[in-house]
Amino acid sequence: MDQPLTDQLGRPMRDLRISVTDRCNFRCSYCMPKEVFGDDYAFLPKQELLTFEEIYRLTRLFVSMGVKKIRLTGGEPLLRKDLPELIKLISSVEGVEDIGLTTNGLLLKRHGQALYDAGLRRLNISLDALDPELFGSLNGRGVGSENILEQIDYAKALGFEIKVNMVVQKDVNESEILPMAAYFKEREITLRFIEFMDVGNDNNWSFKKVVTKKEIIRKLETVYKLAGVEEEYFGEVAKRYSYEGSNAQVGFITSVSESFCSSCTRSRLSSDGKFYTCLFATEGFDIRKLLRNDWSDSQLLEAISAVWSGRRDRYSDERTEESAKARKKIGMSYIGG
Ligand code: GTP
Ligand code: 5AD
Ligand code: SF4
Ligand code: SF4
Repeated sequence: MDQPLTDQLGRPMRDLRISVTDRCNFRCSYCMPKEVFGDDYAFLPKQELLTFEEIYRLTRLFVSMGVKKIRLTGGEPLLRKDLPELIKLISSVEGVEDIGLTTNGLLLKRHGQALYDAGLRRLNISLDALDPELFGSLNGRGVGSENILEQIDYAKALGFEIKVNMVVQKDVNESEILPMAAYFKEREITLRFIEFMDVGNDNNWSFKKVVTKKEIIRKLETVYKLAGVEEEYFGEVAKRYSYEGSNAQVGFITSVSESFCSSCTRSRLSSDGKFYTCLFATEGFDIRKLLRNDWSDSQLLEAISAVWSGRRDRYSDERTEESAKARKKIGMSYIGG
């Protein structure tokens, strides 16, 4: 395209986060609390999920509008059958510069090699605690941290570039900040501390439960000396720091204390083919319906561009305790973060 597509606040579309399933084998309380996502929870039926061909077609269209980075998410994306086939398809799209996958790591030993062979190189793995019991209770399935640590070692040995995501909640896993930092610093794996966010409607969020970047840094600085690292590209989500005397880095995702909406270049596709322009959106734009009604590429391009050009989202800039409670937002496991 000649002119980059920008929204009402001048932000280009650079990233596409694609959720490939709304299911997960964990039940983290801040994302899929057991009381809501029980045995009888109605997940999306298979025919409602975008097929790989549909995702491939949409990837090509989004790339033609300026997208360069693709991230696959879930739920837990490794639960989607034949995922390596999708990686191959997406890798074949000219203009895709980067593909990443966000996972809880539990199935990496089973699928890691096939994903690597398909061309995937970057993994963001969630781990909220090293303490086995605490981690078992946080993931709601009693899976011990040693399991995920082994999966991380396995994936690292395969050659993946790995980052670890830790959601920090006040009085829940704050005590894990220093042990997690020490563990991943030693292995030179970037650990990113994520401020607990009010995604979805089910996680009883309040400002009081957030541990801010400032508080985490204060804790880290009792042991380490940190130096800020330049952002790698416009709109990078994490603010990164290096540890003095080490090659290791640590990052902070500060949606609550230092929002980053002004540089938000991210579009999102749910697994049933709705297009969202914000993680905290209330409604999506149904692209699947258009795909299945035989819309042409140029009709689809026009419709998607119109949504992006009209975009004004800046939820985190404007968040208040009231808006967090009152707004009916899409669920985290549905949209993938
Ligand atoms: P990289 O390409 O490796 O930087 O990936 P990423 O950090 O963008 O993706 P990941 O799936 O690992 O997300 C890490 C955390 O950042 C999750 O909690 C996401 O929900 C959050 N996040 C990602 N993009 C946004 C965003 O646009 N807004 C907000 N508020 N949070 C985001
Ligand atoms: N706040 C912050 N991060 C969250 N994640 C899931 N729910 C929340 C929340 N409420 C994280 C996961 C994963 C990433 C996709 O988003 O732990 O690392
Ligand atoms: Fe599953 Fe990730 Fe949600 Fe936890 S945060 S329930 S691992 S999708
Ligand atoms: Fe982008 Fe919405 Fe997150 Fe702001 S809150 S950075 S607009 S996804």
